Amino acid sequence: MAQTLFDKYGGVPVVTEIVRDFYKRLMRRPNLRRYFVNVSLEAVIHHQIAFVSMVMGKTPHEYAGRSMRAAHQGLGITGTSFELAAQLLSDTLVAANVEQADIDTIMAKVASLRADIVER
Ligand code: HEM
Repeated sequence: MAQTLFDKYGGVPVVTEIVRDFYKRLMRRPNLRRYFVNVSLEAVIHHQIAFVSMVMGKTPHEYAGRSMRAAHQGLGITGTSFELAAQLLSDTLVAANVEQADIDTIMAKVASLRADIVER
């Protein structure tokens, strides 16, 4: 079985650091923070872990949550917000010393989910 990026970069401990840093970057942006105002802290943390793990290859069998379309339906996520979140994820991965080729793979995965997440 091919090694996932999740495993390549050290699994849970490294991904936890990435999640923490990505979360800080997201919540610094009012534009992105607004989507999480009515969401419990637990769900927000869960979101970050699921988000990062999913795009680093822990999917689909390890992910038991809702489909990406169902999970984001009704949130009204804009294309601009999606692009900003993707940029912040890329910045986080650069800061974590993830190789550029792997960042490109991750960003392609993020882009492939765009149509299920963006509503307007
Ligand atoms: C490729 C990009 C994304 C991935 C892989 C992703 C992943 C996920 C996952 C796995 C869930 C479901 C969590 C669960 O039901 O257990 C979720 C829900 C959610 N996502 Fe995302 N997400 C992405 C982009 C975004 C963006 C750009 C925003 C807003 C800026 C966002 C905001 C939310 C919110 C508010 C929820 C609902 C939390 C709740 O009500 O429980 N997501 N996302």
